[in-house]
Amino acid sequence: MSVTAETKRLTPSDLRLRKGAEPLVCLTAYTTPMARLFDPSCDLLLVGDSLGMVLYGFDTTLPVTLEMMIAHAGAVMRGSRRACVIVDLPWGAYQETPEQAFRNSARAMAESGCAGVKIEGGEVMAETIRFLVGRGVPVLAHIGLQPQSVHALGGFRAQGKSAAEAERILADARAVAEAGAFAVVVEGTTEAVARAVTEAIDIPTIGIGASARCDGQVLVSEDMLGLFTEFKPRFVKRYADLAPAIAAAAAAYAADVRARRFPGAEHVYGAPPAAAGPQ
Ligand code: KIV
Repeated sequence: MSVTAETKRLTPSDLRLRKGAEPLVCLTAYTTPMARLFDPSCDLLLVGDSLGMVLYGFDTTLPVTLEMMIAHAGAVMRGSRRACVIVDLPWGAYQETPEQAFRNSARAMAESGCAGVKIEGGEVMAETIRFLVGRGVPVLAHIGLQPQSVHALGGFRAQGKSAAEAERILADARAVAEAGAFAVVVEGTTEAVARAVTEAIDIPTIGIGASARCDGQVLVSEDMLGLFTEFKPRFVKRYADLAPAIAAAAAAYAADVRARRFPGAEHVYGAPPAAAGPQ
C-alpha cells in the first residue's frame, strides 16, 4: 500500500476488526528512522520493552523504565503515519493496581501520542484490562511466554507443552478477550495451543514463536534484520543479515581514516568539484 499525505492511521478498533481476515503484520520499532522504514509495510508498530535487550544491552526487559518507553514511543510516532502504534508498559508500571496502570497508560499515551498500551498477563490482569478499557485505554494483552516474568518462569522457555499449561493459556486468552483487550500477543507456545486460542476468542491473536495458527505475526525487528546476534531463537526468520554489513562499513571507515583517505577532496567545503553543493 502506498502512503499518501491523507493516509489515515490505523486504530486499535481497525485491528480488532481484522479477526479471521487478512493477517495482521506487526514489527517492533524503537526509533524514528526504523519506524519510517517499517510504516508502509506494517499494520502495527509495537514499541516493545524488548528494546532493553536489543538496544540497551540488558539481559532481561526488567530494567526498562516508563521514561525510556515514552521517549521511544514518541520517536516511533514521529516516524510513522499509517501504522497503529502501541507501547509496552514496562515491568512494575502496571502490576500494582488498576489505578497505577491507568496513571502510567495515560502518561504514556499523552506524552508519546501512541494509541494504546500492551501489558503482560492473562487472568491475573483481567481486572486491570477491564479498568483501562473502561477508561478509554486500548489494551493489547500478552499471554504465553511473558518475558517480564522470566525469573518466575525460570528462563525464556516455551509455554503450553503440558496439558495444565495449555489449559492455563486458554483460560488467559478467554479472560483478556472478555475483559476487552482489542487483540492479544501469544508468545512462545505450541501450534496446538495457538490454534485452540485463536479459535476460542473473538479478538485477533498475534503470534511470536506461536506458529502460523494466529491472526497475525510479530517479530522483534532487530532479530529479523540480523542486527541482534547474541542468540537466535528457533522461531526467528532473518530477512536480512545487517550486522556483518555494518561491521564491514565501520572497518572500511576506520581503514580510510587511518590511511588519510577520508575525507577526500569531494567532502571538503570550498574545494573542487565546483558543481557540488553543501552536504
Ligand atoms: O517487547 C516486545 O518486543 C514484545 C514482543 C516480543 C511481542 O513484547
